[in-house]
Amino acid sequence: MKFVKMDRNAPCWCGSGKKYKSCHQQFDERIREFELKGAIVPDRNLIKTSEDIEGIKKSAVINMAVLDEIGEKIHPGMTTLEIDEIVYNTTVKMGGIPADLHYEGYPKSVCTSVNNEVCHGIPSADVILKEGDIVNVDCSTILDGYFSDSSRMFCIGKVSEERERLVRVVKECVEIGIEHVKPWTFLGDMGSAVHRHALDNGYSVVREIGGHGCGLEFHEDPFVSYVSRPGTEMLMVPGMVFTIEPMVNAGTDEIFQDEDNGWTIYTADGKDSAQWEVQVLVTETGCEVLSR
Ligand code: MF3
Ligand code: CO
Repeated sequence: MKFVKMDRNAPCWCGSGKKYKSCHQQFDERIREFELKGAIVPDRNLIKTSEDIEGIKKSAVINMAVLDEIGEKIHPGMTTLEIDEIVYNTTVKMGGIPADLHYEGYPKSVCTSVNNEVCHGIPSADVILKEGDIVNVDCSTILDGYFSDSSRMFCIGKVSEERERLVRVVKECVEIGIEHVKPWTFLGDMGSAVHRHALDNGYSVVREIGGHGCGLEFHEDPFVSYVSRPGTEMLMVPGMVFTIEPMVNAGTDEIFQDEDNGWTIYTADGKDSAQWEVQVLVTETGCEVLSR
């Protein structure tokens, strides 16, 4: 963080209305100590105020309601375009905006990534979900300028034991990630724990794409890796909001991008990939899941 020395009696930068000395001064000094030891520390603009957090939570109500509805309606024979229509309609009906729509030119309201698609699958009338498929539905929502972002895996009808295990293990990876979000420890402590669980189960984790800060913008700093090392990456401090969203592959971690649509990422070996995504707030004691 850029260290701006503040007047101890001036109002705190967080907008609480309290004096700096009785609000964020100690917090800033603690971050500064880590910075002096060479740690990567969050900039002040990554620390959410309580007003921001309320806004993100309201956005997340829509985000999770949309995914609940997909969970109720998804079935064999459904196209991924129908999923897109539900996401658009329900989001708008509840007063939100799908964050994906027109994001950097993205054409739809949601990502639907089936089987060997790692992420950014584009909904289409041509993609018909069939019994045995696994699909990630990644939904991002804007309400009053606040962003929420989460994704879930859905199993279409009865799926193979291998697929069921992949979906379950990636869910466990995310739960382990959540348990490892602790203030004044590092993102690499969390990311490495996620990675370890995937590796222990014989899977690989995508390196190039990961999580991100999220709340006032769709994608904020930091980049959140799940192939990181303990004690590395950004320091986690109360008030940070980011996503935990490992992409875990049954085979190689190598991936490639669709040359025609410029978006969809596939596994290089054609094997399956799965992902769950939650958005967390770092608290004084651990974290709070804002959307899932
Ligand atoms: N929802 C994705 C994420 O988790 C981002 C999708 S960007 C889009 O970060 F343009 F493809 F929609
Ligand atoms: Co995300």
